Amino acid sequence: MIAFFYSIDELHETLCKNPRTLELIKGLTHALHGFARQTKLTHAEWAATIDFLTRAGKISTPARNEFVLLSDTLGLSVLIDELEHPKPEGCTEGCEPGPFFIAEPPIIKSGGSLSAPGTTGERMWFSGSVRDTEGSGIPDARVNVWQADGDGLYDVQYSDPNVANDRGCIPTEHDGTFNYRGILPTAYPIPSDGPVGDLLKMLGRHPHRSSHLHFHITAPGYDSLTSALYPSHSPFLGTDPVFATRKSLICELVEEKDPKKWKEMGFENSELQGVSRIWVWKFDFVLPTVKQVEDLKKSIQA
Ligand code: BEZ
Ligand code: FE
Repeated sequence: MIAFFYSIDELHETLCKNPRTLELIKGLTHALHGFARQTKLTHAEWAATIDFLTRAGKISTPARNEFVLLSDTLGLSVLIDELEHPKPEGCTEGCEPGPFFIAEPPIIKSGGSLSAPGTTGERMWFSGSVRDTEGSGIPDARVNVWQADGDGLYDVQYSDPNVANDRGCIPTEHDGTFNYRGILPTAYPIPSDGPVGDLLKMLGRHPHRSSHLHFHITAPGYDSLTSALYPSHSPFLGTDPVFATRKSLICELVEEKDPKKWKEMGFENSELQGVSRIWVWKFDFVLPTVKQVEDLKKSIQA
């Protein structure tokens, strides 16, 4: 006799052997059907959505994934990070890494320069630390930092994407501190010449991200942190197209005009041609332990 299933749930519950796959597909079909019912989705709207997704597929390349951009601009990427890495009180808030993250950039000793000579943009000195929730510095934490330059471009967007610039992995000192010399990042637009750009236009939204520094920080026994910091003077802070700006991540920068201080920061004469100020950017990151995050997840589920 041929099996006959009346509902999509019945079919999946009978045939799908993986419990997590079953949970995900049931949740997805329930949400999709609920959405169609609630909005009384028309056939024309369904067809326009299929066309949108088809265009997203066609414009995607290994270097540009329109579906990730869609996830970012609908706030899903940030939500996934929040769910997987909930932050106990006092810990630095996180966000998604964006498309320009590289897992193993060059190692740069604390105090070194992140930016190659001739990189466009104003000079900046970043001084920070990585701490636990008790305030103790975490030694040898790996601070992977990457950013756009003064033209709003990442190294991988230049003609030779294999030349690393404005990125590096800085191990923290024995007291958890680290610092580096670099370039003040500037605001830049996310790709908006595809279907996601059309969607933003339909929604009256702009594609510009505020200037920011990206960080991915790891240390044994601690929950990894993916985050970004924003200077308070940057435009577009309240209307980020990817919902990654948090008030706690906005920093007041200070202009340092004393050349003696520039030397103390480690700047070399060749880096100081025509320089009249250096932007000083400070921030202390707080990481929870893996155990603290596990406990928090359990208390959220309970
Ligand atoms: C970024 O911050 O690098 C980024 C994030 C999401 C989409 C595009 C760029
Ligand atoms: Fe970015």
